[in-house]
Amino acid sequence: MEFFIDTANLDEIREAQAYGLIDGVTTNPTLFSREKGDWREIAQAVCNEVEGPVSLEVVGLKAEEMVREAKELVKFGSNVVVKIPMIPEGIKAVRTLTEMGIKTNVTLVFSPLQALLAAKAGATYVSPFVGRLDGIAQDGMHLIHEIMTIFNNYGFATKVLVASVRHPRHVVDAATMGAHTVTVPFKVLMSFTQHPLTDSGLESFLADWNKVVQK
Ligand code: E4P
Repeated sequence: MEFFIDTANLDEIREAQAYGLIDGVTTNPTLFSREKGDWREIAQAVCNEVEGPVSLEVVGLKAEEMVREAKELVKFGSNVVVKIPMIPEGIKAVRTLTEMGIKTNVTLVFSPLQALLAAKAGATYVSPFVGRLDGIAQDGMHLIHEIMTIFNNYGFATKVLVASVRHPRHVVDAATMGAHTVTVPFKVLMSFTQHPLTDSGLESFLADWNKVVQK
């Protein structure tokens, strides 16, 4: 299972990399809006920093604009995956980009049919947003179950990238369902190692070891 970090913040990316925790990065316009500096310089630095896939999103709404932007985005590095919104023009763009050999990540996916369309268009990744679905009292992880079933039924090569992850349980459920990839905010990623029994267990082992060496 691939772990991506969902951020455009270079410090977070570097720290997560230092732990050997990440296989790639996803960004979006909102994540860039939180950073200081020119977005092009940040995008270039992220692509240089990370070996694995880096998703960079287009903002055009017409297929031709998306393709034009995609051609510019891939100049940041051979690891760029172009993020395309799940709208009819986006599907058109994905088909064209796939024919051109450019990798795509179809974003803002909230239904199994949207995922099926993206896969049929040849998307490299499809990004269902589980946290946002949970946020409107729907079951985000049920969407992942449905998409995995459909993709397995027909042998689609498109990878399911579980996005809008809010907590470790989303990741455990995604792994149980066989989802290929999760993208996780830095804070959630760092919480993966935590368990209260690990902390109390370590504390008591160290206290007991002190007794051993003081004998
Ligand atoms: C995925 O690629 C998106 O950047 C991201 O997961 C969006 O999630 P949000 O609901 O936290 O904005």
